[in-house]
This record gives sequence, C-alpha cells and structure tokens, in this order.
Amino acid sequence: MKIIMLGAPGAGKGTQARMMTEKYEIPQISTGDIFRENIRNQTELGKKAKSYIDQGLLVPDELTLDLVLDRLSGEDCKDGYILDGFPRTIPQAEALTAALEEKGEKIDFAIDVEVPDDNIVQRMSGRRVCPKCGATYHIRYNMPEKEGLCDECGTELIQREDDSPKTVQKRLVVYHEQTQPLIDYYRRKGCLYAVDGTRSTDEVFQEICSVFG
Ligand code: AP5
Ligand code: MG
Repeated sequence: MKIIMLGAPGAGKGTQARMMTEKYEIPQISTGDIFRENIRNQTELGKKAKSYIDQGLLVPDELTLDLVLDRLSGEDCKDGYILDGFPRTIPQAEALTAALEEKGEKIDFAIDVEVPDDNIVQRMSGRRVCPKCGATYHIRYNMPEKEGLCDECGTELIQREDDSPKTVQKRLVVYHEQTQPLIDYYRRKGCLYAVDGTRSTDEVFQEICSVFG
C-alpha cells in the first residue's frame, strides 16, 4: 500500500500516520520530521530548511525531492509506505508520479484529512511533541499519561517552534496556495479519499481504515 496523507497543518496527518504504521506495518515518512531531525543535528540541510520552516514557508523543492525519492528506495519501503507531508506542491507530486511510473507503480490512496482553518489554530496551540521519538500529544485532546512527559520514552515534551499563532497563520496561507491544489490532482487520478478530521482521533482512524477495506 502506498499512501499519501493530505491536509492542512495540524489536520492530524502525523497522528493518523503513526496509528497506521502500527496497524499496517509500513513506515511513516514525514518530511517535516526529517527536516526537524536535521535541524537538531545541525546538518547543512537542517540549517537551510530551518530558515524556511521558521517563517512558515515551504522548503524549496530542490532540497526536498531527492531526499524523499531516495528514502522511498529503502528496503523497508518495498511493501509500501505512508507519506506524511509530501508531496506538498504540484511539482513534487509530478516528480513522485514520474518516479513511481518508471517502476510501474502508483499511489493507491491519497487521504485528505479535512479540518476547517478555525479549528487549526486552537489545535496547534495545544500540541506538544516529543523531541526524541516524535510522538505527538495535545494538552486537551490527546494527553500523555504523565503531564509533560512522553508516554513512549519519558522525555520532556516541547512545543514546536513553528506552532506560534503567527507562523501557523502563515502556514495555512501557504497550504491553501501551494498544497490544496493536490486534492484535485489526486482526485483526477482517482485515488482521493476525504475523511472528516474534526472527529476524535479514533473515529478518524476508523474512517481511514474503512477506506482501505
Ligand atoms: P510538517 O511537520 O509536515 O507540518 P504540517 O504539514 O504543517 O503539519 P503538522 O505536522 O503541523 O500537523 P499534522 O497534520 O501532522 O497534525 P498532528 O497529527 O501533529 O512540516 C513542517 C514544515 O516543514 C513545513 O511548514 C515546511 O516548511 C516543511 N516541509 C515539510 N514537508 C515539506 C515538503 N514536502 N516540501 C516543502 N517543505 C516541507 O496533529 C496536530 C495536533 O492536533 C496535535 O496536538 C494532535 O494531538 C491533535 N490532534 C490530531 N488529531 C486530532 C483530532 N482528531 N482531534 C483533536 N485533536 C487532534
Ligand atoms: Mg505532522
């Protein structure tokens, strides 16, 4: 199964992708997580990506494309994968389609997690993430067992730097301009499935699983 998670910042792509990796045993490939890891490790890529991410802008395609296409050739991707946060522009989607077509492959499901902008800012202000293992929580909707600590590795949770209300507003504008057109792109390819992302995480997960049948 080759799956793409579409949806606005904070729609729940990462939360759902993580639940799916457990059930379907295929890797979650999150470009946002890859960039954040590079920022933490202060790599060249991380330094370049940070200047865009901090402003709520997309990292340029030339820094993103090879990185992802390389990752998809990994041994762990041979039974499929969940792309979380990629593609995010039409050129990225076209490059992915072309790379897959070369191998006679295609995307099976593009899942659009729909959440109105009004809900997003509120969700983001309550998000807490584990800087070590990447697990995501919410101070009201998805609380860790012990306040402020990751359930999986016990690390102290932090807020993402790009989750300030101002940066979130910018990310939403960028989303509508550059990423939303992908919904039509995958609809035309006949693999788009929209799910209501405003319900509880478990309900959203049920709906996604029912898409796979
Ligand atoms: P990325 O990390 O991908 O950020 P994003 O797309 O903005 O999405 P988020 O991770 O913020 O949200 P999400 O949909 O994963 O929601 P989550 O599950 O955490 O990218 C970051 C940056 O990197 C970009 O801005 C860009 O600069 C760069 N970048 C990344 N990929 C790129 C690419 N391909 N090209 C160029 N640049 C790229 O949930 C959010 C919160 O809500 C959490 O607190 C969660 O607990 C809670 N929540 C989740 N589901 C529910 C629910 N059903 N009900 C209530 N709360 C919920
Ligand atoms: Mg995410």
